[in-house]
Amino acid sequence: MKIKIVIFFVFALSVKTIFSQVNLGNVYDRNEKLCLNGKWQIIVDQYDYGRSRWVAIWEDKKPQGKTDFYEYSFDGGPVVDVPGDFNSQISQLYYYEGTVWYKKTFDISKKADKRYFICFGAVNYLSEIYLNKNFVGKHEGGFTSFQFEVTDLLKDGENMLIVCVNNKRSKDNIPALDIDWFNYGGITRDVFLVETPESFIKDNFIQLKKSQVNVVKGWIQLQGSKLNQNIRISIPEAKIEQKLKTDDKGFAEFEFTAKLVLWSPENPKLYKVNIISETDTINELIGFRTIETKGTDIILNGKPIFLKGINIHEEIPQRRSRAYNETDAIMLLSWAKELGCNFVRLAHYPHNEYMVRTAEKMGLMIWSEIPVYWGIDFANPIMQDKLNFMLEEMVMRDKNRCGIIIWSLSNETSPSEARNKCLKNMAEFCRSIDPTRLLSSALSNIKYSQNKVIINDTIVKHLDIIAVNEYLGWYRPWPSKPEEVIWESEFNKPLIISEFGGEALYGNHGPDDIASSWSEEFQEKLYKEQIRMFTTIPFLRGTCPWILADFNSPRRLHPVFQDGWNRKGLISDKGFKKKAWFIMKEYYTNKN
Ligand code: GCU
Repeated sequence: MKIKIVIFFVFALSVKTIFSQVNLGNVYDRNEKLCLNGKWQIIVDQYDYGRSRWVAIWEDKKPQGKTDFYEYSFDGGPVVDVPGDFNSQISQLYYYEGTVWYKKTFDISKKADKRYFICFGAVNYLSEIYLNKNFVGKHEGGFTSFQFEVTDLLKDGENMLIVCVNNKRSKDNIPALDIDWFNYGGITRDVFLVETPESFIKDNFIQLKKSQVNVVKGWIQLQGSKLNQNIRISIPEAKIEQKLKTDDKGFAEFEFTAKLVLWSPENPKLYKVNIISETDTINELIGFRTIETKGTDIILNGKPIFLKGINIHEEIPQRRSRAYNETDAIMLLSWAKELGCNFVRLAHYPHNEYMVRTAEKMGLMIWSEIPVYWGIDFANPIMQDKLNFMLEEMVMRDKNRCGIIIWSLSNETSPSEARNKCLKNMAEFCRSIDPTRLLSSALSNIKYSQNKVIINDTIVKHLDIIAVNEYLGWYRPWPSKPEEVIWESEFNKPLIISEFGGEALYGNHGPDDIASSWSEEFQEKLYKEQIRMFTTIPFLRGTCPWILADFNSPRRLHPVFQDGWNRKGLISDKGFKKKAWFIMKEYYTNKN
């Protein structure tokens, strides 16, 4: 028993060091930053040889004397674009899951009175950061942004940044081993070196107070030597100017009345908000809206709303690679708008900031989730820390994005004591850091009994919205005529069908009643049947077809109809609309 405690303690310490990073809000909105995107050199280290102390790739040693030599070199090796997954850039790495070392050199004229932070939009999955041969920190998680202060390690002139990335799946990871999407690895999002004043605005939260359309509430957190500062919050267009003082910890809370034009899908109004301290300024575009539930209704700005949604993976099918920039976001979200959506479920992980900010500007409400997907090892004593930390990373990055109305805790996890305890704790933790949004979790363990669908997962009592992934007509034959299916819920809460659909190969035409035809006609009929069922569910308040576009998944093995693609898209991997697209578009057009 004693040994176990020691092992756990050592492991817990290591986990803590993984999480000892800065949570620097507003990286996206800071102007003083050096973009480190572009060409990076790489070394593919399949046997993890480079980490050993006598190799120490992070030192990038060069032979000095005649008898020196090193069995590695970045020079003369492959080069990849950052941001971007390495799988889609180098054909030999297409299915690679393992270690890749990245190297980037950059010049900077370092200022004595400034602080410097290295900021990553995301690195999938494990990463270790080295600057000028010094270990900076490590991070776990493939879809959340993280930052480390590097002020003392940065040199005036040329600097060498080396990142060790490992995208290998593991049962202790989030997500774990079994996923239905492509495990793209690498530095998949933007990298910046951010410069701040010595005392700076580390983070701020500014939104409407829960259920109050004319009360702005939030907080400011400073970091540095000068923590007691006068702060001004100004929203010029609304003629708002608020003055506050931070306490000895650099913290100040505020609440003030304001008459603002509310953000909505019809009018996605964003205000320029200036947060000005004595030493720093942050300018953010922020929208203001309220979101709540009343019985089985979802209420936006005091009025009931139906969520006309679509699921989206962070992938450009035509490129067969991760989506990572604003152009990618505009393409994917324009398709959603064209379908008639007012809501997008960004599956199954936090997407890049361009997706969130572009959706908000387009008037699309957002469901954001961390990849607590299928077989998570909830019984592992270290898992709660990891779950809460990843949840915090997601919330803290996007807490000022009013477009996000729902945080989701998990997708299709099987009920157990451990899972229920973890999700309950996550729900409580999430509400403690952001009381303004709704909580949900996509469930698949619903009870089917003849023509009844019964929602009885106890975790729902900790959620605001019930979300169910159901594949009636695909994975499960219809138990009756679709309009005769009866949905029953033990909870007086709104229901979203967070996933439904079936597969079709674009251009493949055939019978509409044989699933193995993989025909567009079968998928089209399935959508008509699903819509007939929707009209009979009294507490249905939103629908999300699975999925906008065909996506890459090594789980999809049929060589003719799938060929490594999950074909549930309403749009093909080449960007062509299938027949079912038009059925869904008509439903949303006529749905009020
Ligand atoms: C599940 C899961 C998705 C998956 C889909 C499918 O509901 O949430 O990630 O891709 O089913 O089987 O296509």
